[in-house]
Amino acid sequence: MIPRTYKDRVIAPSLLAADFGRIREETTRAIHAGADWMHLDVMDGHFVDNISFGPAIVQAVHESNDIFLDVHLMISRPDHFLPRFVAAGADLITVHVEADHDVANTLLRIREAGCQVGLALNPATPIESVEPYLNQIDLLLCMTVVPGFGGQAFMPEVLPKIEQAKKWRDQLGLSYHIEVDGGIGLKTAQAVIAAGANILVAGSSTFNAPDMAEAIRSLRNL
Ligand code: DX5
Ligand code: ZN
Repeated sequence: MIPRTYKDRVIAPSLLAADFGRIREETTRAIHAGADWMHLDVMDGHFVDNISFGPAIVQAVHESNDIFLDVHLMISRPDHFLPRFVAAGADLITVHVEADHDVANTLLRIREAGCQVGLALNPATPIESVEPYLNQIDLLLCMTVVPGFGGQAFMPEVLPKIEQAKKWRDQLGLSYHIEVDGGIGLKTAQAVIAAGANILVAGSSTFNAPDMAEAIRSLRNL
């Protein structure tokens, strides 16, 4: 479930870093290691220069394990594919402000479908681009790498955008969560938490850790 307030820390391992030949077992491993959510990185090979998986995999995870599914649509037409991800069992659906759709309308449709509503922006996209939508969302995802691949280096130039998102939330009396995704591990989590993030997506730093439970615990206790 989505935590009551943005003061709660959430650790969301990204399936992108898991062994795709053992998705059921990898998801179970993440749950037993203390994951709060599973972050599912959907890529269409058009919005980003990689293709990962679609609704069928989201459904497979939904049917094989019981965990909150945080579905990150890195696709050009999230409005067109939205019904299929809702039907597949997504709990939260995040769409990109840069994609080719009527953002406000897509966010409304996610809400009407009964899912939590997320909006994402890439490192190069000014934070002002999401300002018109802040009162429609439960979660703002500030990408801390250029999306497409796991294992990339964290981009510290995104930190001021996280700080600005937190400032707007306080000024406007809103309650959206701030999520970060890309290059998040023990070395970089401190900075994003200090800037205002409370939901940490971590792929390689959790799934590739010698001890996944220890990696998740360390991120949670920072
Ligand atoms: C976009 C993806 C990755 C992934 C996390 O490329 O969203 O950022 O989730 O990858 P790590 O945690 O391995 O950087
Ligand atoms: Zn993601």
